[in-house]
Amino acid sequence: MDKKNRNALIAGNWKMNMLASQVPAYWQGLEPGAKLAEGVSSALCVPFPLIPAVKAALAGSQVKVGAQDVSSHDKGAYTGEVSAAQLADLGVDYCIIGHSERRAYHGESDGLVNEKLKALLGAGITPIMCCGESLEQRDAGVTLSFVESQIKGGLEGIGPEEMKKVVIAYEPIWAIGTGRTATAEQAQEVCGYIRGVLGKLYGEELAKGVQILYGGSMNGKNAKELLAQPDIDGGLIGGASLKPEFADIIGAANE
Ligand code: PGA
Repeated sequence: MDKKNRNALIAGNWKMNMLASQVPAYWQGLEPGAKLAEGVSSALCVPFPLIPAVKAALAGSQVKVGAQDVSSHDKGAYTGEVSAAQLADLGVDYCIIGHSERRAYHGESDGLVNEKLKALLGAGITPIMCCGESLEQRDAGVTLSFVESQIKGGLEGIGPEEMKKVVIAYEPIWAIGTGRTATAEQAQEVCGYIRGVLGKLYGEELAKGVQILYGGSMNGKNAKELLAQPDIDGGLIGGASLKPEFADIIGAANE
């Protein structure tokens, strides 16, 4: 199995943006361009309270609904948290975990990301597990070893059958929301390296089937070149997913 046999995934990450009342107009702008070619999937990962509104707007579309975080706990006295079962109950198909903003502002460790990943798999939701280095780490030449440690930590105890249901997103922190996209070569280098790490953990055949996304200032203009890289199977898109431009990125994946 190689790139031709892996599906593409274009996932939007709305972060803490949008109101339920804005969803219908947003979808009206996006829908005409949000047709998916065979082998292309798409999802919008939205704030928890917007899930029902987005789910309703997307009814009849091929675009799926995702969340941006999940509790590592099943249920109980965890004020403010949202469980994987609650997300599944709302019809959520994907969930981002380990985003660098959660790691930075909420102190999320690889161990916690690992617990969240297991919670999602238990609920039948596809985890999109994020990794990526800071500018300091890139400048210090430790990008590959750091990303490798995040991958190994996040996937601790995950067997091969479970791994087939996990999506990885490589998002260099210095490229997120900065307009400074990694070059296609930089993004490919790390995504290819991640596939190599997965190969060592799970065998090459399985690694060849894992979807690896790039994220960090991906937009309608640079998507085509990034998506053409042999180990980049899609994108995790922040800013551009809030605009009709998101359809241009889907278009680039359709090609
Ligand atoms: P960006 O965000 O596309 O706005 O850089 C990507 C992300 O944080 O997932």
